[in-house]
This record gives sequence, structure tokens and C-alpha cells, in this order.
Amino acid sequence: MNPTPASTQTFRAIDVIRKKRDGVELSRDEIESLVNGYTRDDIPDYQISAWLMAVVLRGMTRAETAALTDAMLRSGEVLDLSSLPSKKVDKHSTGGVGDKTSLVLAPLAAAAGVAVPMISGRGLGHTGGTLDKLEAIPGFNVNLPVSEFRRVLETCGCAMIGQTAEIAPADRKLYAMRDVTGTVESPYLICASIMSKKLAEGIDALVLDVKTGSGAFMKSEKDAIFLAELMVETGERMGKQAVALITDMDQPLGNMIGNALEVVEVVDVLRGEGPADLRLLCIELAGWMLYMGGVSDTVAGGKKQSEKLIASGKALDKFRQMVELQGGDPRTIDDPIKLPQANSTVTIASPRNGYLASMQCEEIGTACVILGGGRERKEDSVDPTVGIVLHKKVGDVVSRGEALATIHYNAEARAASARQLLEKSYQIQDSPPLDKRPLIHRVIGKAGDKN
Ligand code: URA
Repeated sequence: MNPTPASTQTFRAIDVIRKKRDGVELSRDEIESLVNGYTRDDIPDYQISAWLMAVVLRGMTRAETAALTDAMLRSGEVLDLSSLPSKKVDKHSTGGVGDKTSLVLAPLAAAAGVAVPMISGRGLGHTGGTLDKLEAIPGFNVNLPVSEFRRVLETCGCAMIGQTAEIAPADRKLYAMRDVTGTVESPYLICASIMSKKLAEGIDALVLDVKTGSGAFMKSEKDAIFLAELMVETGERMGKQAVALITDMDQPLGNMIGNALEVVEVVDVLRGEGPADLRLLCIELAGWMLYMGGVSDTVAGGKKQSEKLIASGKALDKFRQMVELQGGDPRTIDDPIKLPQANSTVTIASPRNGYLASMQCEEIGTACVILGGGRERKEDSVDPTVGIVLHKKVGDVVSRGEALATIHYNAEARAASARQLLEKSYQIQDSPPLDKRPLIHRVIGKAGDKN
């Protein structure tokens, strides 16, 4: 198996792994050869895993990050959507627990007249993935060929697919490998993964939701800001308008975690219901999408317009239309009880009276993966029905014996492990927690300066 190098005949993956291990900067050619070789199956999983781990531990320079993003972007087709009259805007999150905003935002922005060509990912590490959530809708096809993706987008204004053999194939392979090798938590790899997909979409503007807190890949706000700046800079280098909101992921977003359960909550929000934190973040991000999509002069105006589109039922209609166009069963949108459900449930009760002071959010996400809602190995299939429903959030008063959460499961042993982890993740104290973390921490990017 000999990779055909981009510009040298002497390329050997082992040399590039060693160089990165020793902290030596890689050239653009070396990075390109590695990405192309892996995409073509010339470089085996074990070598790319070693390289990914070396990047996590050693980091990358700006030049290396740019070279990686460009190589991943050019591994497939870059869509030309210039024939569509509306502005093309997308949103992407760096990953969280209970973060189902993409499923609300694509139809919501489309209902306002913005075109949303969205390429998403599957669950990554302890976080959930948009594609896994969409696939919980019976029949929904996230693997549309480009021609069909374009047709759905032209018909209803939004379409949601995954990386394919045609678009961002390098991210498809690297993403799946990072998921199961503990190599997600690198700002450079996250930047290249997200921006290569987004730049392949043919968008004009991008709203990034960069998570910070115990359930995020970037736990500290400082690290989240670093990643946000890296991605905004990459977008601007490629001539795209980009803004990043640093938002809180110190506890799950909304109350439902797990693929089908999260679709239920998406429908709730599109009906003008659902938990306050999720609604608030969706409206904030939608405000930015409408502003950057040119259908509103200000973010505040975009937020108002978004609220109206939800109240009128137009955003929900758009979601139903997209589901149907992508092969999904639209009856599940009108009647989410028709979504697949787990066989059993068990409740976790509060061990004492007090206030819920904090939740270890990564552990809650991991509990959902253990239930079968995510992957521990590349070949694992995801169970759409399992998950966790939270009855209490940080700051709430709790009484001894009161339900903190309900686990939805199909296997006793998995439920027992998830339960142990969940119980450990709650901290209950006598007094209310003093510092309430904001949902939106700050905005990064030139567009943010004006709003
Ligand atoms: N989302 C992505 O698409 N890639 C990452 O690496 C993290 C979140």
C-alpha cells in the first residue's frame, strides 16, 4: 500500500507521525499527502490514529491548521450554489449534550427566506450528533447524493446531510476515527473538521456555536475563545462572513438527551413550547442567521422575526416539509409519540433535600453513550430510542426522593452503568448556587462588533 504523494515520491506516513510526535512543524505537502492517502484508504487506521493523537498532544501551527483545513476541504466537491437567489447561511456547533439546535434552526431560518445547506456530523465522543438525531425519524435519509441535496434545498430552503464520498470525505473518515480514539479534543482538529465541511457547502455566511463548560470539548472559556477565533479567522480567510457565539455547556441543553427524545424536544420548540434555555439559544442563533442572511437589518430584528415564524407554525411546517422530502415519516412530527421508544424506564431520585448546584455534563453525555445512544467502536450502531430525561436543572430546589432524571433503556446492564455515572454527576447542596452561568458568554467576530 503506497500512498501517492502530492508533490514528493518519498512520502511515508511513519515519518510524518514521528515529526508530529517530536513537535516539528509539518509542511503543506506532508499534510496533504497524509489526508489524501487516508481518504483513499492507502494509509491504515492505526497510522492515522497515531498521528491524530500526536496532534492532540503537540498541537498545530496556524499554517498547519490552514493546510489541514484546505486538504480536507479539497478531498471532495465544493458546492456551487450561486444559482440560488437567497443568501446561504449555516450554523454549526462544536458539540454538546442535549444540543439539538440544528434541527430547529435549519427549518426556522429557511422559513424566513434564508437558504440553509447543512452538512452535519454524527455523535462525537460524549456529545450527540445531528445525523444520529435525524435518523431517529423513521425513513429520514442523511446520505443524499449531491443532486438530491440540491433538489431538497431548492424545494424547501433547507436540507440536512452528512459528509459523503462526494462532499468532505476526509472529514467523514477522520471524524469517525477521532470519535473512538480519544482524539476529539484538539482545537486544530475541530477547526479543520468543522470548517472543511462548512466551506464545502457553498455558503455565504456561518454562525458558529462554540460550547464551553463541563460538557464541552473546550472546558474553559479561554480555550473556547481560542477555538472560536481560529474558526472565524479560517472562515474569513476563505472569504466567508463568520461569527462565533460562545455558549454554555456546563449542563445539558434542554431536558432531553438521546436521539429520538431530542427530536421530541425539537418539535416542542418549533411549536413554541419546550424548555426555556433551548428556546432562548435557538432564537439567539436564529437571530444571527437571519441577520447574516440579509433578511433582517439587526440581530434583534432577526430574533423577533424568528419568534413570529414559530408562533405562526411556519417553522414547524418547514421542518415537516424537509422531513418528508428527505424520506422521513412526517406523521412523527405531528405526533412524536410515533417516534421509536425504549422498552423500559427507571427514575433517579434525589438522595437529599437541597439545591441542585451542578451537573457533570460530560458524564451525563457518556451515560447516554453507554445506554447505546452513541458509539464506543466505529462499527457500533446507535440505538435511537435510549436516553435521559432531566427533571431538574442547576439552581432548582430538590426534595429527598424526588425524581432528578429518568433513564430510557433497552438493556439492564447498560442502564445500571449509566445510572451509576448519572448519580455521580449531580451535586446537591444546602444553599442555592451563587454564580449563575450565562447561556451566551460572548460573541467573537467582526459582525459581533456591530450588534
Ligand atoms: N463538530 C464537528 O463537525 N467536528 C468536530 O471536530 C467537533 C464538532
